[in-house]
Amino acid sequence: MKITVIGVGHVGLVTVACLADLGHEVVAVDDNPSRIDSLRQGIVPFYEPGLQDLVTEHVTGGRLRFTSDFAEVADFGDVHFLCVGTPQLAEGMGADLDQVYGAIDLLAPHLTRPALVVGKSTVPVGTAPEVARRLTAIAPAGDRVELAWNPEFLREGFAVVDTLSPDRIVLGVTSEIAEKTLREVYADAIAGGSPVVVTDFATAELVKVSANAFLATKISFINAVAEVCETTGADVVDLADALGHDDRIGRKFLQAGIGFGGGCLPKDMRAFVHRAGELGAEGAMSLLSQVDDINQRRREHAVQVAASMLDGHLAGARIAVWGAAFKAHTDDVRDSPALWIAGQLHLRGAEVTVYDPKANESARRMFPTLTYAPDAVAAVREGDLLLHLTAWPEFAEVDPAALIADVRRPLLLDGGNCLDFDAWRAAGWTVRGLGRR
Ligand SMILES: NC(=O)c1ccc[n+]([C@@H]2O[C@H](COP(=O)([O-])OP(=O)(O)OC[C@H]3O[C@@H](n4cnc5c(N)ncnc54)[C@H](O)[C@@H]3O)[C@@H](O)[C@H]2O)c1
Repeated sequence: MKITVIGVGHVGLVTVACLADLGHEVVAVDDNPSRIDSLRQGIVPFYEPGLQDLVTEHVTGGRLRFTSDFAEVADFGDVHFLCVGTPQLAEGMGADLDQVYGAIDLLAPHLTRPALVVGKSTVPVGTAPEVARRLTAIAPAGDRVELAWNPEFLREGFAVVDTLSPDRIVLGVTSEIAEKTLREVYADAIAGGSPVVVTDFATAELVKVSANAFLATKISFINAVAEVCETTGADVVDLADALGHDDRIGRKFLQAGIGFGGGCLPKDMRAFVHRAGELGAEGAMSLLSQVDDINQRRREHAVQVAASMLDGHLAGARIAVWGAAFKAHTDDVRDSPALWIAGQLHLRGAEVTVYDPKANESARRMFPTLTYAPDAVAAVREGDLLLHLTAWPEFAEVDPAALIADVRRPLLLDGGNCLDFDAWRAAGWTVRGLGRR
């Protein structure tokens, strides 16, 4: 099929690479000209495992190309995927839909023949009918241009695998033709066993935000329990292991620590609460405001624990921070708890040196005043305190017995609660977790 993708960020670029890999012909457009220039030279602007190889293969092979010209996109494709961002409003908790409407305004005037526009962006419930109205009002082909909403559930760090073999495909459609077209787009994944849920716009929009809200709730639940563990001497990791054996609960997303971040969970949850308020259902959503509060408390708590490990003396202390990305396997630092904590410690007078296996550069762009080390050992050299904040596998491989020779004081705060505390303590380190013995 001939498919186009509008917006080549974390979702859009993975989508184009995977659609090309499935055999479709793909043209992608973005309103950021420097991004398009880099991609034309084969440079993927962020780290996502497996993505660079796929882009190189399919640009070279001719199934994938990039443009800044919306007329070319409209002319080329029968199906247009909308993958632009929906960040939090600069002022307020709601979603900023400027990119969505901006993309429609750029594409629609060129749609002179029947086409299916497919929203993948995460939007507040009730957005799709507005987008459909705008689309048919502007497009020369009028109501022969149809809208579908097909929310995206990929996880950064596993985005290629998730896109090629999604856990589920949700199709918010208003016609059998739209459903048939999308089943054709996803034929390989469906044949591979991905279940398809065919539904209306509102349900499709709500599935996505509900999934993120549920995951956020699970994380904040265990973090609230971690707060109680800390006051009672209980261990939240043992507790989570025990909870996880109950398969009604499961162990996933019960990792207590510094809380969640990234470009999705926090802003999607806030937009959900905001939209519920607009619809007069804010009572149902007060739970999610609590989830947000608990999550924000975790970052501040980690800063306080770090300060207490240094007897309250942050000014002049040398602190190493392992991890800057909001989670492992990505270089995405949007709303990263690790970087927030590093920044706060710096603002309170500590000399902070950060090392992240992939996110040093993206972190430096956001926080240029921090120092960045080329590797994990260099970051801790002559340090007073080490904070482990993003759970990259390479940090678990470091030998604490060898590392102790490099530091001024062997103090470790494991914000991810996942290093081997016994091994670090046996090597002579004083170790604190969050909600742990
Ligand atoms: N990042 C994730 O893990 C993830 C997962 C599932 C869903 N989502 C959702 O998918 C959407 C995209 O997220 P993202 O992380 O890829 O965002 P992003 O900011 O990484 O990418 C957005 C891209 O759209 C481009 N863009 C903006 N306005 C445009 C316009 N008018 N025309 C063409 N291009 C335009 C930007 O230049 C950028 O390249 C969001 O709604 C997000 O909530 C994200």
